[in-house]
Amino acid sequence: MTQDFDLTRRSFLDRVLAATAATGVAAAAPWAAFAAGADPKPGDRLRLGVIGTGDRGRALIQNIAKTRNCTVAAVCDNYAPNLAKGRALVAATVPAFTDHRAMLDAGGLDAVVVATPLNFHARHSFDGFDAGLHVWCEKAMARTIADCGAMVKRAQSSRKLLQIGHQRMFHPTYLNALKRVKAGDIGTITQIRASWHRNNSWRRKVPPGRDLERKINWRLYRESSAGLMTELATHQLQVGNWFLDGVPERVIGSGSICFWKDGREVYDHVALVYEYSGGRKFVYTSLLNNARYGCEEQIQGSTGTIEPELGRIYAEVPPKALALERMKQDVQRGHKRTVPIGGATWFPELPVTTPGESLGWGEYDETMLQFEAFGESVRSGTPIPGLLRQAYWASVASLLGEQAMDRGEAMRWPKDLVEI
Ligand SMILES: NC(=O)c1ccc[n+]([C@@H]2O[C@H](COP(=O)([O-])OP(=O)(O)OC[C@H]3O[C@@H](n4cnc5c(N)ncnc54)[C@H](O)[C@@H]3O)[C@@H](O)[C@H]2O)c1
Repeated sequence: MTQDFDLTRRSFLDRVLAATAATGVAAAAPWAAFAAGADPKPGDRLRLGVIGTGDRGRALIQNIAKTRNCTVAAVCDNYAPNLAKGRALVAATVPAFTDHRAMLDAGGLDAVVVATPLNFHARHSFDGFDAGLHVWCEKAMARTIADCGAMVKRAQSSRKLLQIGHQRMFHPTYLNALKRVKAGDIGTITQIRASWHRNNSWRRKVPPGRDLERKINWRLYRESSAGLMTELATHQLQVGNWFLDGVPERVIGSGSICFWKDGREVYDHVALVYEYSGGRKFVYTSLLNNARYGCEEQIQGSTGTIEPELGRIYAEVPPKALALERMKQDVQRGHKRTVPIGGATWFPELPVTTPGESLGWGEYDETMLQFEAFGESVRSGTPIPGLLRQAYWASVASLLGEQAMDRGEAMRWPKDLVEI
């Protein structure tokens, strides 16, 4: 099967829905419709105040600038060098603050964008809701499962939107992959094997002077991060829940500081198995000293495999003929004169290296598209069905994995999660 629609901003999401109305993608990705809304009138753009203009906050500012319906109306960071870099990306008239409460008090905003370290997400989101604003917050949601639930509750009680930065749900290739799964193109999925392997320490250089180690390298410390689980795995656990259409029943895992013994507190190696209903599995590894296998989710079905990061779908290859059978055929075709008496009857089952076919690639960036969807759902006053639930479940799964590794015990999916 070939890709049957082009992936342009104006067309891809609505066409995904049109093309897949009967196959369940619309139900699995209802937010797609929101990103295909009409152009807003000038002056109707959603005014966003960005808290945290570090690496990610600045990337978000650049993506927001490409949307049709959002604009950055204020920036805030309590670290002067990063605030200066953030300011450089917006018009000189956009106010800049070192204290997010001062930004909220100054008014003139419709929503906040939270791009601070994980342990500040809940507090900054609560302050946004208290100021009567909608909240767009980076993944993972919060440092604890309880705080993730509290964020959901605050969004519900304030009747404001809360959207979390899981951009893969807006990624044209992932949406196309989901379409192919719903159409039955890879059969029954019983396992997803996912990895995020890098070869760098994650450690940032800290300027001399003030003790900024824990501020700059917040990812390496338990107080502010669950390390690989909340920084990387959370994205892939969202994909796992999405494609396996549920949540894990339990998780087992092992984590270690195996290579970067530099005073960090978070694991640099994690290996986990998440079990879903019916014995299906999400098998995960992440590490920081070998990048060969990179970032991928291998979605393994009974008739095919999808690798969305590579953007490819592969059909199962029929089993090879046994060696003796091949030799017999060679003799029959005249390629060989005799069949040797000895010889291998078994070939090693090496990975299949067929190139597969492309799942298609979008013209527009998923990080930008998720803000268009946010802008459209705020404008229409309609929460995007299923979106927050996916984010909540992904964060819970990542933090539950951390608990399983820390305790050396299988952790069951919590029964007391907030209903969404
Ligand atoms: N969705 C993605 O693909 C993706 C990618 C990278 C990072 N992220 C997320 O983005 C968030 C930020 O990551 P980062 O790499 O940009 O970190 P960073 O350290 O580069 O930036 C965080 C910024 O927040 C500022 N900050 C901290 N406390 C503050 C406060 N109280 N008030 C105002 N500013 C404050 C810091 O000074 C810093 O500039 C994290 O939650 C991370 O998980 C998401």
